[in-house]
Formats: sequence, C-alpha cells, structure tokens
Amino acid sequence: VIDKRRPLVAGNWKMHKTVGEAVALADAVVAGVGQVQDVDVLLCPPFTALWAVSRRIEPSRIMLGGQNCAFEREGAYTGEVSPVMLKDVGCNFVILGHSERRRYFAETDQNVNRKARLAIECGLCPIICLGETLDQRNAKETFAVVGSQLEGCLQDLSDDQVRKVTIAYEPVWAIGTGQTATPETAQEVQRFIRRNVADRFGDEVASAMRILYGGSVKPANAASLFEQPDIDGGLIGGASLDASAFTAIVNAARC
Ligand code: 13P
Repeated sequence: VIDKRRPLVAGNWKMHKTVGEAVALADAVVAGVGQVQDVDVLLCPPFTALWAVSRRIEPSRIMLGGQNCAFEREGAYTGEVSPVMLKDVGCNFVILGHSERRRYFAETDQNVNRKARLAIECGLCPIICLGETLDQRNAKETFAVVGSQLEGCLQDLSDDQVRKVTIAYEPVWAIGTGQTATPETAQEVQRFIRRNVADRFGDEVASAMRILYGGSVKPANAASLFEQPDIDGGLIGGASLDASAFTAIVNAARC
C-alpha cells in the first residue's frame, strides 16, 4: 500500500493557443519546470499544436497528452482523432470525459468507458474527469453523481486496465469560475472516489491510483489542496496558460 503517490500536475489548455503561441508557452514551461524530478508534469495542448509542442518538450521530462480521442482506431469518422494518432505524436495521456465535453458535445459515461479501453490498448493513460454541477451539489447528490460517473466510466475494466487510469475530480461549479472547492470539500469527495475504487478493484489498485483535483487551481491555493491525503496533483485550466503561474503550481506539488 502506497502512502503518498507521485504527484501529477497537468495543464489543460482547452481551445487556446495557435502553434506559435503554444510553442512559446511550452518553451517557457520547459524553462521553469522541465527538469523537475519529483512531480510528473503534463501538457495537453489542442490537437493542432501537439506535434510542435512534442518537439519542444522532448529534451525535458515534461509529458504530452490529448484533450479527447475517438472511440475507434481508424475509419470514416470525420473530425475525430484516434488514440493511435495521439500516441504517434508523442502523447502518453489523454483527458476523457471533461465536463465541457459532457455539456457541449454529448459525451456520456458509456462513451468515456469505450474510449478509455481503446486508449489503454493504444498505450495511453486516460485521465477520466468526474464532477457534480452546482444544482446537484445543492441537492446533496454529489456522491450519487460522482459514484455513478465512476461506475459507468470504469465499467468492465480489468484491474490491470484500471492501473493505467488517473481520475480527475472537477466539480463543474469550480471550473473557470474562480470558486475553488475548499481543500476539505475536495478531499471528502476524493476519499469517496478512492474507497469506491477499492471496493471494486481492491486496496492495492486504489492506493496506487492518482486522483487529481481540478477547478480554479491557482498558485495561491495549490499547496493547501495538494497537501490533502487523497489529492495527488491537479488538472489546471486557466492558470496553465500562464507559464509562471503553472510553474508555481508545479512547485507547490513538490514534496
Ligand atoms: P480552470 O482551472 O480554468 O478552472 O479549469 C479547470 C479545468 O477544467 C481543467 O480541466
């Protein structure tokens, strides 16, 4: 049983940055935290900038991820990007089931489950996003919603497949709002997630799994979140677009 997992800090750039802007940001992140040993650092640029960013971060320890992927390897799926293609440009991770994809692009737990299985087959580690809306929180449905998302997304995965999965708890009301969950609130849900994983896949899988927090993480609140026992790093949106803020957040995750 692992006491504390190696932290992961991931920048989700969402739909920001042209290739030129992405390269400049990647260079600045490499200069800031490119050789950090005790935290895994991940950049998730838009698809169009993946290859260019991949070249820039190659000499560093920084890793690359996609923000979504297709549920098939290849074929007539206009507009989709295969996990094989993500792997090919140097990705080791892929974000799946982000609340923005659930809200605007009809992503379902069933879809996320299918994508996660294929991503793992293709050698990618999925970062599966879960989280309740404000209405659901106010109706005291947080645990029911997060529990059911977790169940659906991990449906029929083997223990070995689940070992490749990172979970990101991202309460929808905290994303891009400046309203961060308190460390205690995030910890409470993340402990619930880990217990749930332990019930289904055993203590060993659960204690090794990284569970990230996402939602208005900033340099000023990062350390208090990351010191919680079940918060193993962060999925950073807005603050990841600023190299000095992102660098400060990575440094807050160092032991
Ligand atoms: P913000 O950090 O901008 O709130 O975004 C969080 C997020 O959605 C990361 O995936």
